[in-house]
Amino acid sequence: MSGKVYLVGAGPGDPELLTVKAARVLRAAEVVLHDDLVGPEVLNLVRPGAEVQSVGKRAGGSHFPQEEIHRLMIAHARAGKRVVRLKGGDPLLFGRAGEEMEALRAAGIRFEVVSGVTAGLGAAAMAGFSLTDRRMASSVLLVSGHSCKGGNAAPDWVAALQSGATLVVYMPGDHRKLAKLLVEAGVTGTIPCAVIANASLPNERAEYSVLSELMQASAVDKPNLLVIGAVVGRAAAGRSGAEARRELVSR
Ligand SMILES: C[S@@+](CC[C@H](N)C(=O)[O-])C[C@H]1O[C@@H](n2cnc3c(N)ncnc32)[C@H](O)[C@@H]1O
Repeated sequence: MSGKVYLVGAGPGDPELLTVKAARVLRAAEVVLHDDLVGPEVLNLVRPGAEVQSVGKRAGGSHFPQEEIHRLMIAHARAGKRVVRLKGGDPLLFGRAGEEMEALRAAGIRFEVVSGVTAGLGAAAMAGFSLTDRRMASSVLLVSGHSCKGGNAAPDWVAALQSGATLVVYMPGDHRKLAKLLVEAGVTGTIPCAVIANASLPNERAEYSVLSELMQASAVDKPNLLVIGAVVGRAAAGRSGAEARRELVSR
């Protein structure tokens, strides 16, 4: 009988943010194929003797081919193994799970998705604002910074920000460039924003600013994401006086 593949979300970093189900499935796994952003404390749950392989971008050079990940999942499942494909955050957000589920379906392999806490939610929890605070935002857009490649701000981002939505940019790349693109596309420079790095980890940090100031901001640790919207200003204003707009928060 063939095995089964679990596409599991490891959360934003803090092992206590793993779901109970993710922890159970990880403990029972015979093979674990994990991304770069999954920390050692989560991997410590894997039982001794299980095969653990990094298939993240940094594994084996600059890029671990996606087809090779498909091949490994399918081969291990066909050998009857319980396979965990472990991804940072939630497996279905910006994690190529769509392609992986398609490959598994095509190969006739049983699979199950185990949801995780996505980084954007971990970041909002750490910074202490609600992404959809009803007094300021009625919607939230989760986007990838990669959609801004080619030197243009994605038009739907501009429209969303102008209509009062909160924007959460995963993989934002160079914040200065991104802020410039948005301001040039007509987004007001006074809109609050925060770059949040290593959310939920001991070295987590949030840098508050407004879009026009972000154009001159210095580099921030990775992984990080950028949150833009009025809800961010609420959190910044609630913090220490003179530094309210631009401050560092750490645990
Ligand atoms: C390939 S995406 C994967 C997202 C993941 N599936 C999720 O749901 O969070 C990786 C990006 O997520 C963001 N990210 C992941 N963990 C983070 C953390 N602890 N703090 C801040 N941003 C994080 C960064 O923007 C990073 O470049």
